[in-house]
Amino acid sequence: MRSKSSHQWLKEHFEDPYVQKSWKDGYRCRAAYKLLEIQEKYKLIQPGMVVVDLGAAPGGWSQLAREWIGRKGALIAMDILPMAELEGVEFLQGDFTEIETEAALIKLLDSRAVDVVMSDMAPNMSGTRSVDQAKSMYLIELTLDFARKNLKPGGDLLIKIFHGEGFDETLKVCRQEYEKVIMKKPDASRDRSRESYLLALGKK
Ligand SMILES: C[S@@+](CC[C@H](N)C(=O)[O-])C[C@H]1O[C@@H](n2cnc3c(N)ncnc32)[C@H](O)[C@@H]1O
Repeated sequence: MRSKSSHQWLKEHFEDPYVQKSWKDGYRCRAAYKLLEIQEKYKLIQPGMVVVDLGAAPGGWSQLAREWIGRKGALIAMDILPMAELEGVEFLQGDFTEIETEAALIKLLDSRAVDVVMSDMAPNMSGTRSVDQAKSMYLIELTLDFARKNLKPGGDLLIKIFHGEGFDETLKVCRQEYEKVIMKKPDASRDRSRESYLLALGKK
């Protein structure tokens, strides 16, 4: 039998206007609206770009990015979970905390210079705030490192980040390594969630 809290979660989920809109618009999840809002404001992804989508499943962001880059662009998506196929998306299933996954991603990139790295990765939440924050910051550190090695100069980075331990330090590092850093909490991001999106523009 389902617990009361999972029943409550399902009820909130199905009543969520962004969830209902995603069914109508044909997006795989409500997360799509977060990227849509960021794209409308900052025009991050352009035709012909090479984009890496970390933590891509179920594929809402990849669906949108694929449209924006068009046929001449390339989209490499990765997740620890499987993802249903999307035409024109190269998908790698792997755990980003494992060195083999980064190596496999670099192999897939095959020396293509990356214009945008975006990460919506979030660890499975245990409910213990300090543990969840540490896990999330570790994924961010790995993402920053991946961008350091693979993003081209002038390239942009978009990462989901949770307010808490390590947040200020991440902001500081990004300000040193990128021309401009913007924090954004899209409307589609639930108010009670501590998540925000860090947009680091113009890798130095
Ligand atoms: C919020 S969801 C991403 C939603 C996605 N942006 C979309 O639009 O469909 C976060 C994803 O991060 C993935 N993730 C969490 N930890 C990961 C890890 N260590 N390696 C790879 N993916 C991970 C999860 O499996 C999950 O699919």
